Amino acid sequence: MDALPELLPAPAPDLAALAHALGPLAPAFGIRWVEHCGSTNSALLEAPPEDEGKIHVLAAIRQTAGRGRRGRQWLAWPGASLTFSVLWRFAPASSAPAGLSLVVGLALARALEKLGVPAVALKWPNDVLAHGAKLAGVLVELLPGRYAAPAAVIGIGLNMRLPADAVIPGQPGGVTDLAREMGEPPTREHLLAAILAELHPMLATYERAGFGLLKNAWQQRNAFANLPVRISGEGADIAGICLGADEDGALLVRDAAGVRRVLAGEVSLRPAS
Ligand code: BTN
Repeated sequence: MDALPELLPAPAPDLAALAHALGPLAPAFGIRWVEHCGSTNSALLEAPPEDEGKIHVLAAIRQTAGRGRRGRQWLAWPGASLTFSVLWRFAPASSAPAGLSLVVGLALARALEKLGVPAVALKWPNDVLAHGAKLAGVLVELLPGRYAAPAAVIGIGLNMRLPADAVIPGQPGGVTDLAREMGEPPTREHLLAAILAELHPMLATYERAGFGLLKNAWQQRNAFANLPVRISGEGADIAGICLGADEDGALLVRDAAGVRRVLAGEVSLRPAS
């Protein structure tokens, strides 16, 4: 594991400004913003707060063991990214949350578009890109069977201001941050409020109607629509044309054998060279 950069003091988040930015949605959320923790996802998975009818959000100024998909680290530099997790409890009769990470990506994309970030696109299943480079990632983990209703921990990491010498491996399109994409990024409180304000209604729609109702909005932002891609991992090695996502959030790729359906497990998508 790479050595983590030194912990530097960071200003405390302004929770009053966050509540103000959330406006009428503020009472719907129970938000804790800690100075540091290992991983906000792990913290919510290991000790989920009681269900008091609020949507619990745990944000950390800095994570010391942030996790990404496929066993990767989410690297931390002080003030470099907004990192938080949301504990979403589904209604009792909800079925398996197919396509959830795509819905979260879509909410992120919409929030960023409204903030004026240009050229936002989605890379199946969980990345948000700007000008083709990774701006944010989503890690959804389920809390199976511990509750009457299924629950998901939705982790989001969004690059705000990466150090100039930051090296983040495994990103074929490179990485970017809000400072590069929009000059002066909004405050982290404003940014978190903007994301939660998109996530809240979108998760409600998803819970009611599934990914199907949001599919077209996702397809419109698909970074690889009709482009050659390669899918690898979990024994899969598929090269073909990216047709987009289906009603369950699976990726459809057309190759010589026909249309293949790829589920969002530990696979990765790359542009085919
Ligand atoms: C990815 O791009 O592979 C997903 C990255 C998800 C990172 C976020 S940061 C907040 C939350 N806590 C974690 O440990 N991971 C997620």
